[in-house]
Amino acid sequence: MLAARRLTWARVRSAAAVLGRHGQSLPQAPRLHNNAACALHTGSKTAWQKANTVDDFRLSQPTIAAANLLRDQKMLQVRWENGSVDSYPYIWLRDNCQCPKCYHPVSLARRVLLKDLDLSVNCVDIKLSNTGEEVEMLWTDGHQGTYDAHWLHERAFRGPKPAPHDREFRLKQQLWGREMQDKLPRISFPDIIHDDHSLLNFLESLEVMGVVLVSDVPCEIDQIYSFAKRIGHLRPTHYGETFNVYSRMDPNNLAYTGDSLDMHTDLPCLATKPEIQMLHVIKQFIGEGGDTMITDGFHAASKFKKNNPEYFDTLANTLIEFVDVGVDDGIKFHVCSKAPIIDVDIDGSIRNVNWHQMSRDSRFEVSSPEAAAKWYAASLAFRDMLYDPDNLVKLKLQSGDMIVFDNLRVMHGRQGYRADQGERWLQGGYLEWDSVRSLRRVLRKNINT
Ligand code: OGA
Ligand code: ZN
Ligand code: ZN
Repeated sequence: MLAARRLTWARVRSAAAVLGRHGQSLPQAPRLHNNAACALHTGSKTAWQKANTVDDFRLSQPTIAAANLLRDQKMLQVRWENGSVDSYPYIWLRDNCQCPKCYHPVSLARRVLLKDLDLSVNCVDIKLSNTGEEVEMLWTDGHQGTYDAHWLHERAFRGPKPAPHDREFRLKQQLWGREMQDKLPRISFPDIIHDDHSLLNFLESLEVMGVVLVSDVPCEIDQIYSFAKRIGHLRPTHYGETFNVYSRMDPNNLAYTGDSLDMHTDLPCLATKPEIQMLHVIKQFIGEGGDTMITDGFHAASKFKKNNPEYFDTLANTLIEFVDVGVDDGIKFHVCSKAPIIDVDIDGSIRNVNWHQMSRDSRFEVSSPEAAAKWYAASLAFRDMLYDPDNLVKLKLQSGDMIVFDNLRVMHGRQGYRADQGERWLQGGYLEWDSVRSLRRVLRKNINT
């Protein structure tokens, strides 16, 4: 029998939560302003906000009715109070022991070394606490660990994790078509900069809808820096930390002319394509042209999969080479990368669309001329889907607008304009999903606590 011992790690952990990677104090997350008008806490949430916020979900406090060892299978079996049963492999339990020798309570990191893990590890004895809130395990090597019921329940091996964990990880995307024409989320720049609720609204809208219009941005260069700083860090590329889109005499990119730009995602020529794009309109072209078109590439690709599964597979399974060669700011570049047009994740979901007619190389890896011709048939059918008026949103951004969108998901294009008849100037930059989601989790937790 094991000596009864209280689990104290949860307390240690919450005390440690404000310490950084090296034990230093971290700045506290920005304080949330008490803005009574904010949609996030006035009950005027949109449907997607209701579906995606974790605050409505109470964590259940499951307790264990019985625990026993399945010695042949080397598993701990747990029967929950509601009668459901879960099993946990010994090797996983040993690997994830939460005692301070095995799991560092301050850095919140596993200390167990892989070399010390033994597939034949065996459990000698277990003890369930009277309250059913924890189970202790004694291993053959004399080590003992205590597992919290709630902790175990959250980690049951049942496939994709249910809410709220799943929601914390990623918000559910809402795919859209032309019905969003006049309904794109719009939030003002000063609100995002000064008010944490507006910032959170921006981050959540961006994750769910893939696009947000930011209004009232001062019509001056480098506003993108203050915007990015509010969220995380700019992601530099071979065009620098930011880039300026205007017509020039020596364009190293078709965007730097008055030409129309076919619908695209930016820079699939990079091995890691920038994930989120900001385009700040410092000066819009006055007169006909310069309009923006966007389409939800995931929506189009999902429809495409339904209507044309064979062509969908062709685009998902053919690697395309993208290339960009030139000089920027006196520095020569030659970047190239291979990616499929539709990039499908291991679970079958679409995780990225790569569409860039301008920089697609004439070489690509198909095994026969017939396969090349078939790729074109698939590709042109997908193009029709992207430009289908049912899927398109068209707008003319105004000076002082900034469009922010998911460059993995949303494609954008531009109507051409007469560059000899007036000025047009946009400044662009990129962000990464990791920092956007990180801040979204931090702010959401602040609101909920
Ligand atoms: C770009 C681009 C859009 C525009 O520079 O990649 O898409 O409206 N620009 O000029
Ligand atoms: Zn341990
Ligand atoms: Zn672009």
